[in-house]
Amino acid sequence: MIPKMETCGNGCILKTNEQTSNYLCRMSEDLNIVTGTKTEQYESLIPQIKGLLEGEPDIIANLANIAGALKEQFNWLWIGFYLVKPAFAKTSADKELVLGPFQGPIACTRIRKGKGVCGTSWEKAKTIIVPDVQKFPGHIACSSLSRSEIVVPIIRDNEVVAVLDADSEEENHFDEVDRIYLEKIMQHVEF
Ligand code: SME
Repeated sequence: MIPKMETCGNGCILKTNEQTSNYLCRMSEDLNIVTGTKTEQYESLIPQIKGLLEGEPDIIANLANIAGALKEQFNWLWIGFYLVKPAFAKTSADKELVLGPFQGPIACTRIRKGKGVCGTSWEKAKTIIVPDVQKFPGHIACSSLSRSEIVVPIIRDNEVVAVLDADSEEENHFDEVDRIYLEKIMQHVEF
């Protein structure tokens, strides 16, 4: 039998013959990493991220690939997502942030609304750039190596549904360019 080939999003191909079906995926090695200004790096990465998301409805798979792509391009200390989910402890509020797909050192699993940079970004529904984490009151230090941070909320139907968090080992690492492009990337995520 001639194997049947079907494309299934993200550049993957499903190869089926009489006995077996195999996914042939080559995305990670196909990510084109560029040097240049921050703007040039984002400009190169955005169409690639759009390609990664195309045809794939699973939110966890998509957030995982975005975290992977950003880590490969920028090599930040930590990059990942916290998702707004039902709270675990009965005494706490209804909802809290729960750790989602990420790249980097292990991180705190749950963050309450208004706590740390992530919880503040959720509460205010605004991007927060922290040039020096030691000067942010209530900053939650998941890694002692983190020096600066940016948190971008993902807003759908006027509600924050998740936040993207990036940490750097350098002070003053994130700026308006990161805000503009990371917000743009977050608009492409279908929740
Ligand atoms: N620093 C964050 C906590 C998450 S970690 O950095 C991965 C905060 O203050 O909310």
